[in-house]
Amino acid sequence: MKTKMNILFATSEIYPLAKTGGLADVSAALPAALRKLGLDARVLLPGYTQVLAALPEARPLVSLTLPTHGAVRLLSATMPDSGVPLIIIEHAGYFERSGSPYQDGSGQDWPDNYLRFGLLSQLAALLASATSPLAWHVDILHCNDWQTGLAPAYLHFSGTAAAPTLMTVHNLAYQGIFAADTCALLGLPPESFSMQGVEYYGNLSFLKAGLFYADQLTTVSPTYAEEIQHETLGFGMHGLLQSRHDALTGIVNGIDTDAWNPASDPHLPRHYSAARMTGKAVIKQLLQQELGLNPLADAPLFGVISRITPQKGQDLVLAIAPQLIQSGAQLAILGSGDSVLELALRRLASTYPGKVSVVIGYDEGLAHRIEAGADIFLMPSRFEPCGLNQMYSQRYGTLPVVHRTGGLADTVVDATDTTLADGSASGFAFDSATPGAFLTATQRALALYVNPVQWKKLRKNGMQRDFSWESSARQYQALYQSILATDAPVA
Ligand code: ADP
Ligand code: GLC
Repeated sequence: MKTKMNILFATSEIYPLAKTGGLADVSAALPAALRKLGLDARVLLPGYTQVLAALPEARPLVSLTLPTHGAVRLLSATMPDSGVPLIIIEHAGYFERSGSPYQDGSGQDWPDNYLRFGLLSQLAALLASATSPLAWHVDILHCNDWQTGLAPAYLHFSGTAAAPTLMTVHNLAYQGIFAADTCALLGLPPESFSMQGVEYYGNLSFLKAGLFYADQLTTVSPTYAEEIQHETLGFGMHGLLQSRHDALTGIVNGIDTDAWNPASDPHLPRHYSAARMTGKAVIKQLLQQELGLNPLADAPLFGVISRITPQKGQDLVLAIAPQLIQSGAQLAILGSGDSVLELALRRLASTYPGKVSVVIGYDEGLAHRIEAGADIFLMPSRFEPCGLNQMYSQRYGTLPVVHRTGGLADTVVDATDTTLADGSASGFAFDSATPGAFLTATQRALALYVNPVQWKKLRKNGMQRDFSWESSARQYQALYQSILATDAPVA
């Protein structure tokens, strides 16, 4: 069995250099965890302005000229904290602009995203093939989400020997769909544009390409792996995923337990641990001050940190907020995204001054302070491939209330008589994404909140759970090994 494997991890985000969501956290933590297991994992990512600015020591590796894309340079650098080697794609025309990785400042997708991520996919494929310009030999190409989905298709049509591929789906809702004519522009052969290929209802789908051509597929929790094979959460891909059932597994994400450690978190004004919780109460008091909430130590404080999209169920938060407030609770919400929902949240805050705080924007420090200062964390996502905040909250003794879906179902143990008795309860889960079911779950949480002995126990249960990356990284290692074992040429 091969133990020293070279893994090329291709991604469009990495924390803290470029982040829009949990993919960035995973891209930073998983390769680092794999390296700790002895694998040589390296990350391929676009050289966005902020990436290049953060890595002034990046050195040129190789220069290339590609049809369609023109001149490109690959740079070598390492991640500041973990030392994970990076291969950065320098292409000023594509990546050096202000805005987010996918959108301009006004929230519109960049019109040339098919070129930008077509290039990322094409280079991932090149580095994983026998014609790679690098001396470093790739054993497995690990692709992530639609932005790298074309890579397995490029390899399939490359006509050269190549590493086998693993495609991880972090969110099936984002598929990278572009007009049919982009297929030829990106250098894919006409025969790829079929139902048995990259075509999706007359368009080119980057994600479908990955799901169709990759050797193995994973998603970020076992429950989501099951859910996406059915129409409700399959986003049109359930048929294909059913047909690839044998190649699809779910591996739940871990979290970075150093960055998210209430005993040492540099974003917190005080520290605490399961054994010494007093710091948490002080953080709550300071957070109330910071957010203009009434300074009531006993008022249960609900936290929400999230992209604001229909996926995350903020409409459900809006629907139950009046009842929560009426029962004496406070709400601290941080997020950005959908402008209609943002407006509704802002209105909620102005209706309930001192009781609801809404901060629209992206604020890493405040996210940590809400995780630590809140009592209860709300995550009523309609679907959630894995979700990270519910794990951060458990680690911070902030009990999550979650919709029982995807990774939320796999990582939160609902408080019932049995789980309370056996010490495994670590939050509250509800079955249908409706205001009524959500409200009932928050009321179950509040009923325990007023019982300090039970609440203390619950917090401790959550804080003691192991969400570190090691066990997930071992599952990826085993999967890589099985892919290589299957892929090995017959002697
Ligand atoms: P998703 O990737 O679908 O957005 P996850 O729960 O996997 O959901 O990851 C979200 C990540 O982004 C978490 O690390 C969370 O703390 C962070 N996050 C989301 N919105 C904000 C925000 N407005 N400010 C700070 N951090 C945020
Ligand atoms: C996606 C999902 C989220 C998951 C993250 C990292 O953005 O929406 O549930 O935790 O990817 O895998």
